[in-house]
Amino acid sequence: MKKQKNFIFKCSNCGHEEPKWLGRCPECGEWNTLIETASSDSAAGASRGRHAKTPYSYPLSSVDPQESVRISSGIAEFDRVLGGGIMKRATILVGGEPGIGKSTLLLQAAAAVRTQGRVLYISGEESAGQVRMRADRLGIMDRDERGGDRIEICCVSALEDIKIVLEAVRPVVIIVDSAQTLHTDMAGLTPGTVNQMKYCSWEMISWAKEHDAALFLVAHVTKDGAIAGPKTLEHMVDAVLYFEQNDGDCRFLRAAKNRFGSVDEIGIFTMGEKGLSTVEDPSLLFLVSREGELPSGVATAAVLEGSRALLVEIQALTAPAKGAVSRVFSDRVDQARVSRIAAILEKHLNLRLSDQDLYINVAGGIRITEVGVDLAIAAALYSARTDVPLPVKTAIAGELSLAGEVRPLRRLAGRVKAGKSLGFETFIGPASDEANMDLTAVKDIKSAIRTLFAPSSDHA
Ligand code: TYD
Ligand code: MG
Repeated sequence: MKKQKNFIFKCSNCGHEEPKWLGRCPECGEWNTLIETASSDSAAGASRGRHAKTPYSYPLSSVDPQESVRISSGIAEFDRVLGGGIMKRATILVGGEPGIGKSTLLLQAAAAVRTQGRVLYISGEESAGQVRMRADRLGIMDRDERGGDRIEICCVSALEDIKIVLEAVRPVVIIVDSAQTLHTDMAGLTPGTVNQMKYCSWEMISWAKEHDAALFLVAHVTKDGAIAGPKTLEHMVDAVLYFEQNDGDCRFLRAAKNRFGSVDEIGIFTMGEKGLSTVEDPSLLFLVSREGELPSGVATAAVLEGSRALLVEIQALTAPAKGAVSRVFSDRVDQARVSRIAAILEKHLNLRLSDQDLYINVAGGIRITEVGVDLAIAAALYSARTDVPLPVKTAIAGELSLAGEVRPLRRLAGRVKAGKSLGFETFIGPASDEANMDLTAVKDIKSAIRTLFAPSSDHA
C-alpha cells in the first residue's frame, strides 16, 4: 500500500486543526500550541488495517438485551448521575479540575464493583504506592483480603502495554487515570498530543465494547474551564460527567451527555477524611439558618435538580449602577435570565431597576438552571430594591413568562413536600391540578408580589 503522508497541525489546547503551522491557534488564541500530528484520517486508516476482520451483520433479534445490564457503583449519587448504575460496554468520561476528587471517586467505585469481577486501574499519573495509600485512606483494602475479586493496578501508559495487561486481566471495569497520559507509537509523531489521546482512547473504547467491560476515562480540565483535549473525546464516549466544586467543600457531579440516562441529574458530595461521601439532605447546604426576620434581598426557591426537589436560598442585591449601563453579576444563575426577570419587574410592577447593578447569588454555590427559580429571583430582586424583607418560612416556585404570568411547573407537589419537610410553612407557586397541596396559588407577578409583600404593598 502506498504510504500516505498525511500530517496536519493540531492545537494541543483545543484540538483545532490547521493545514500549516501557525504561531497562534486561531480557534482558542493560545500561543505555540500547534503541533504536527498525523491526521485523523491516516490514524483511522491505520487502525482499520490492523484489525482486518471480515465485516458481518446479524439479526437484531439475536442480540442479547442482557448486554445492557447495569452494575451499581456502590455510591448512590454516582449511580443516579450515571442513569442508574454503570452500563456494561459503556465508556464514561469523568472530567474536572485537578484535585477535585476524580481519582478518589473512581477508586471508591472500584471497591464496590470488584464483587462483579476484576477492576483494572491504569494509573499514568500516580505511582502504585500513591494509589495504594489512597485506597488505605478510603479503607477499601481490608475488604479485599477477604477474597472475592480484586482491584488490579498497572502503572503503564503506552497503549501497546496496556493491551497486554487487558488481555491478561480481562477486567469488567477499566479505569484510565488519566486519558491525557495515554500514548502510542501509532498516530503521528509527538506523544502527548490530542491526536494521540484520541487514538488511544478509541482503542480502549473498542476493547471495552468487545470484551463487555465498562471503561472510565479520567480527563483533567484546566482552571479556566477550557476542556481542550478532553472535549474532543466527548463524541466518542457514551457519557460525559463533569465534577465541579463550589466555594465550600461541596462537589457536584453533572452529566453533560448520557446515552443511557438523563443529563438533568446531579450528584452532590463532600470530601472528608475518608474520601467522598454523599450528602443526605442537600437542601441543608443551600439554605442559611437564621433567627427572626430575613434580611431584604433573600428568597427561598424550590427548584428541581433532575428528579430531586431542592430548596435553595437566592440572594439579591441592587446598587446604583457604576457605569452608564446597568450590569448583572450572577455566576450561579444565567445572567440573561436575571436580566429578563428584571425587565419583567420593571415593566409589570414599575420597579425601577434599569439604573441599578444587579447581583444574584445562590447560597452554597450551586448552579441553578431550572425554570422554576424565576419567581424566587423576582421576589429577591423586589425585596432588595424596596428594602422590604420577605416573610419567613416561605418557599417560592414559578416560571415567569414575559407577559408576567406565573406558568405551571413540573412536579409541584414534590417541591411543596420537600419544603414542608424542611419546615417551610407557606408555599407560593402556580395554580396546579395536583391534589393535596398546601399552596398559595398566584397567577402573575403582580399577585405574587402582592401576596408576598401584602402588609407593605404601598412599596409597589
Ligand atoms: P483526587 O481524587 O486525587 O483528585 P483528582 O484525581 O481529581 O485530581 O483528590 C484530591 C484531593 O482530595 C486532595 O486534595 C486530597 C483530598 N482527599 C481528601 O480530602 N480525603 C480523602 O480521603 C482523599 C482520598 C483525598
Ligand atoms: Mg487524580
